[in-house]
Amino acid sequence: MCGIVGYIGKRQAEPILMDCLSRLEYRGYDSSGIAVRQNDNSNNISVYKNAVRVEALKEKSPHLNGNTGIAHTRWATHGQPSLLNAHPHLDCSGRFAVVHNGIITNYQELKQQLIIEGHDIISETDTEVIPHLIEKYYKGNLEEAVKLAITVLKGSYAIVVLCKDEPKLVVAKMGSPMVIGISDCEKFIASDTPAIISYTNKVIYLEDGDVGVITENSIVITKNGEEIRREEKQVHMCKADIQKNGYVHFMIKEIHEQPRVIRDTIVDNALLTTKLTIGKDVQSLSIIACGTSYYAGLIGEYVIEELLGIPTNVSFGSEVNHRRMIFPNEVIVITQSGETADVLTSMKTMQKAGVKTLAITNVPGSTASRISDRTIYTKAGPEVSVAATKSFIAQLIALYQLTLLHPSMSPGLREQLAAELNTLPAKAEKLFDLEPRIMECARYLTQCTDVFFIGRGINYPVALEGSLKLKEIAYIHAEGYAAGELKHGPLALLCAGVPVIAIAAQDSNYEAMVTSIKEAKARGAYVIALADENDKTIDDSVDVVFKVPHTHFLLSPVLHTIVLQLLAYFTAKLRGCPIDFPRNLAKSVTVE
Ligand code: G6P
Repeated sequence: MCGIVGYIGKRQAEPILMDCLSRLEYRGYDSSGIAVRQNDNSNNISVYKNAVRVEALKEKSPHLNGNTGIAHTRWATHGQPSLLNAHPHLDCSGRFAVVHNGIITNYQELKQQLIIEGHDIISETDTEVIPHLIEKYYKGNLEEAVKLAITVLKGSYAIVVLCKDEPKLVVAKMGSPMVIGISDCEKFIASDTPAIISYTNKVIYLEDGDVGVITENSIVITKNGEEIRREEKQVHMCKADIQKNGYVHFMIKEIHEQPRVIRDTIVDNALLTTKLTIGKDVQSLSIIACGTSYYAGLIGEYVIEELLGIPTNVSFGSEVNHRRMIFPNEVIVITQSGETADVLTSMKTMQKAGVKTLAITNVPGSTASRISDRTIYTKAGPEVSVAATKSFIAQLIALYQLTLLHPSMSPGLREQLAAELNTLPAKAEKLFDLEPRIMECARYLTQCTDVFFIGRGINYPVALEGSLKLKEIAYIHAEGYAAGELKHGPLALLCAGVPVIAIAAQDSNYEAMVTSIKEAKARGAYVIALADENDKTIDDSVDVVFKVPHTHFLLSPVLHTIVLQLLAYFTAKLRGCPIDFPRNLAKSVTVE
């Protein structure tokens, strides 16, 4: 998703902006660009942009000499990736340059009006109206012009504006994230903290409606015309967290971090008080999330209903805003980044309706953590690869703990599951011994055009997540199915050699899963099973089996998912896919 950075200080802006941009690559993008206010008498704004990755931008950009600048990675929403559509965007005179994250929903009408007034608008983007509006309102004071321009904007935005006539940056935020990094005699702006973490740990998070005027020595923030103080926060993240540390890809590094992530999330959440669990008297619960976090939600639903008997439903953040929904009093919001626009909008809708929100997020300081009533932090550490792995496993651990803390849990079962949770890091570690065999199996998948994942009960969402991972990073069409549904349609697609990946957990669904496997085999499918280490009978019914360490069936999704992550990773690697930055996808989806 679009990434924004800005710099003002005494150093050359260009290398710093390029470095910060490359730290945002993980968000996913298709174009990049930079604008610098020249260090000469002209103070002209020099721009270099194109539909290229940051590496190419760095290589091809002429040296832009100046100490103030802005830069951007674009993820196309309005208009295809191209030089004209890439940011920064300029006004007619080239006096203002703007980078923007978000969507201006009324840009068509603004554009028509601006064209009537003589503005030459050359891109297909929603963003380009912003520099033209600033040009229209500018009477010698950039801050005032930006304030007037945003009064006519509808939609969401985080913008940074550079002006050739004023040695400052002006920022404004509504709906999209924006952070200011503070250091002596220099300031950094970013849509996402990891972009600037190599330069400073001291940050201010802007709130919706804020407008900031930033010089190398000062930050002045106003909201509704009043000056306002935003607290400085210390960010606990270091450079090593966002480096590959010897691994070929972030994804495999992050998969391998999972035993540590499980351990850290357990230890940290051991401090959870009952204040952070599900309310004692709730009659029903909703969970809101998107993507992989949604699948964590489905597993959470299963665990909560099984252990607490509280009816729970899970909805996509993107659906909540477009239908009438009857919310219970409490809603759990699961979001790795804490910035997914669909999730944040639903949170706001629910909060307006008086619903209490409990966020599970991996990013301290994220919007979700700031606007929710209560927050549980997962301890995955920064996740760079676009495909979520360790953050998903950490979300599961948080959901287990949240459930175990509930006063209605039977103490015996609580103790048994808590003890079993503590064994998961070692069991997860053992799964890495399977890697050579998983890689062999991945070789088979590389030849396939369609793959089916089947699971039952609590492992049905694991089938969905396994198929999502394969689609996302290996670009192979995959479907996740509740195994019992195979016979209601998908069997029509099964023919000789089509892979069916079956999760055969030791639970009450086991016999039914074996039946589904037989149905698939009878049609010539190539069945790859995931089964418990104590399962001695499945080997005869399938083509390949991966045995996972025994655990309580409610916790088995953790181990099964890790095997499927590795399968997707090795398949993508053998196919030569750009694993960490899959085409068209973004890590943090900040537009609805
Ligand atoms: C994007 C990412 C997914 C992620 C989803 C929800 O689509 O590529 O990996 O699961 O957003 O993100 P969130 O940060 O809300 O968990």
